[in-house]
Amino acid sequence: MRYSALVKSVRIGLLGVGTVGRSVARALAERRDVLSRAVGAPLLLQRAAVRDLSRDRGIDAALLTADARSIVQADDVDLVIELIGGEEPARTLIAEALQHKKPVVTANKRVVAWHGPQLAQLAAQRGVELRFEAAVGGGIPLIAPLTDDLAANRVLELRAIINGTTNYVLGRMAAAGLSMADAVREAQDAGYAEADPTEDVGGYDATYKLAILASIAYEIKVRPDEIYREGIEGIEPVDFRYARELGYAIKLVAHTQRHTGRVEARVHPAMISLDHPLARVEGAENAVFVEGDLVGKVLLMGQGAGGRPTASAVVGDLIDLARSIRRGVQSRPSFSFDDRIGVVPIGEVKTRAYYRIRVDDRPGVLAAIGQVFAEEGVSISSFIQKDAWSHDTTAELVVTTHPSLDASLQNARARMERLEPVHAVSSFLRVF
Ligand code: NDP
Ligand code: HSE
Repeated sequence: MRYSALVKSVRIGLLGVGTVGRSVARALAERRDVLSRAVGAPLLLQRAAVRDLSRDRGIDAALLTADARSIVQADDVDLVIELIGGEEPARTLIAEALQHKKPVVTANKRVVAWHGPQLAQLAAQRGVELRFEAAVGGGIPLIAPLTDDLAANRVLELRAIINGTTNYVLGRMAAAGLSMADAVREAQDAGYAEADPTEDVGGYDATYKLAILASIAYEIKVRPDEIYREGIEGIEPVDFRYARELGYAIKLVAHTQRHTGRVEARVHPAMISLDHPLARVEGAENAVFVEGDLVGKVLLMGQGAGGRPTASAVVGDLIDLARSIRRGVQSRPSFSFDDRIGVVPIGEVKTRAYYRIRVDDRPGVLAAIGQVFAEEGVSISSFIQKDAWSHDTTAELVVTTHPSLDASLQNARARMERLEPVHAVSSFLRVF
């Protein structure tokens, strides 16, 4: 290690001074003394990169450059914080900083989810560390609890709400009966959802975050494209009414569970019992429910986004790395991954399900549907006729099942859609 206790200050290169970067810069300035005491040396913002140099960033303009590469290569920068976002040039800049033996803190879920293991390996080769506490769950401590505090455990299961935008949207649909389009617009006005909400609504953001959590929890490499993903697009206001009557809330759930030699990893909207703590996570909050074999069940909850909460996690990583620089030691061991463990295909996952089916309101329809479930080996838990419409003599059926193979549940759905009296399987949700 090239650093020593003789280090007088730790000089920081900040890439990106947007929502999070600005909050980080402000925390460094406003908490200078506290941070200096925590580290044992002053933390100095040495240089910062943005695209547009003409805008005021609330920091000394002389520190700013539009050339981010010059920061990761600079001899007067000890540590790099990447808060640019997106895949490129962020990934390349992180890799270059590590190559130059600079520890890196990032909040970039996309880069960590897709390239985390390779970057961690590069960091280990160069004798420095890569930290990414803020990449999942904003300000909620999640990575450190999994790598450090719960390290004595085998993680058995992790179930989470890790996308604030969709939790806000689903909450507003449930509470105020808003359509999804109106709820998304409201989330945009409130500053939660982006102008293009696809990454959140489509479940991609949650998939990146689950890939990171599962990789850390099980010490295996879980890529985002190995995780089964469904967004919240298909859910309608009526589903919330039926869910409540059945004793459930509807949430976008990220779920992973250990099986012998494999793990389950999926992101999709699901019904979750009103008794479960995740059912009570409101608005844009995030929560992660972890079960370890020693500790039992642990719930971590808080603000999953926003400049200040995310800066809290970034600066927390920064303090730890700056202490390592001061002491000339590496505080966490390098990651190691077991390549023999893979992800269970969704068809082989066992789950309960809810179907909402629009059918002709006439004799024999229930029997035909019941036969499909029987032939697919799916045991029905409840079969209820809900609303009926006299103008076209149709009715809405709600079916819930006992745990079954997901492939059988999907086959039943496809076969029902082909039945003559079935107009549509309007909704299909897995049930926890
Ligand atoms: P912003 O878009 O607000 O800020 C990005 C910053 O990076 C801007 O200052 C931008 O410059 C700068 N930038 C972009 N490209 C370049 C480039 N090529 N060279 C130099 N500077 C560049 O993003 P956020 O602050 O919201 O997010 C930052 C990271 O934090 C992302 O990875 C995000 O996923 C993550 N994160 C964000 C959260 C949040 O609540 N916002 C929560 C958790 C994680 P300019 O201003 O000139 O355009
Ligand atoms: N877009 C994310 C969310 C926040 O809605 O939770 C950043 O990770």
